[in-house]
Amino acid sequence: MNANLAQTRIMKNMKIVVIGGTGLIGKKLVSILSQKGHEVVAASPTSGINTITGDGLAKALTGTQVVVDVANSPSFEDKAVLEFFETSGRNLLAAEATAGVGHHIALSVVGTDRLQASGYFRAKMAQENLIKSSRIPYTIVRATQFFEFVGSIAQSATDGQTVRLPPALMQPIVSDDVAAALANIAVEQPLNGTVDLAGPEPIRMDELVRRFLSANRDARKVTTDVHAGYFGTAVNEQSLTPGNNPRLGPTRFDDWLSRRQAQHH
Ligand SMILES: NC(=O)c1ccc[n+]([C@@H]2O[C@H](COP(=O)([O-])OP(=O)(O)OC[C@H]3O[C@@H](n4cnc5c(N)ncnc54)[C@H](OP(=O)(O)O)[C@@H]3O)[C@@H](O)[C@H]2O)c1
Repeated sequence: MNANLAQTRIMKNMKIVVIGGTGLIGKKLVSILSQKGHEVVAASPTSGINTITGDGLAKALTGTQVVVDVANSPSFEDKAVLEFFETSGRNLLAAEATAGVGHHIALSVVGTDRLQASGYFRAKMAQENLIKSSRIPYTIVRATQFFEFVGSIAQSATDGQTVRLPPALMQPIVSDDVAAALANIAVEQPLNGTVDLAGPEPIRMDELVRRFLSANRDARKVTTDVHAGYFGTAVNEQSLTPGNNPRLGPTRFDDWLSRRQAQHH
């Protein structure tokens, strides 16, 4: 058997632990990887595996080649979210070192380094820095905002019937495309670096939310305000858009909106 074939075989029968395996991305990722024939553990507090307390972690990681961390903090309050990503990162990386895990993949956010005025993004930066300073081979995947998150963006900017948002460029992506990209990266060699992941087309934040509200027959109106923030943080044209050579998901926002509408009727 040649080396490539041998490698393909190993890549097909891996044990992969998905931290946050019951979440929006986690559930989809677990399903794709299982269908590809891997042994997959969907790790989360509800399945008895907790990266904050350490419960069940060592046992889950025994014999594991790859860990994909798609967990999120239950609280987004500045102090709580920083504590979550620091404690979770430390516990997880220490347990991976003991188990001899060969590839740690984490899902972060495009623009994390440019949005450090935000407590959430300081926490994501702390998560990334722990990974970079650990000795475990890694790939950090920075995704843009999920289509499924657009409702929360609208909510955060709502005052009565008005949604005040900046015209900042974004390039959002659907969660299925994020899960598919992570499933591919899970069987690739570690980059020991960062890759950006985005949707197929740029769109301005005010316009994105306008289309979302209109598709949902939501009566709120979007007011464009260049001084409005993103969850209170100032953003410009480059803050939320991907850098060089991003991986792109194929699903367009308008297609997702019409597909969702068709499902609801
Ligand atoms: N939203 C966006 O637009 C966006 C964009 C780019 C990147 N991201 C990143 O994507 C990641 C995943 O987001 P998501 O929306 O899929 O998250 P989600 O649906 O909120 O799921 C969070 C997951 O984390 C698990 N979890 C919570 N505390 C845990 C703990 N102590 N130990 C182990 N697992 C724990 C939860 O388990 P239980 O179900 O048991 O509580 C759940 O499975 C996040 O890291 C986020 O920063 C998000």
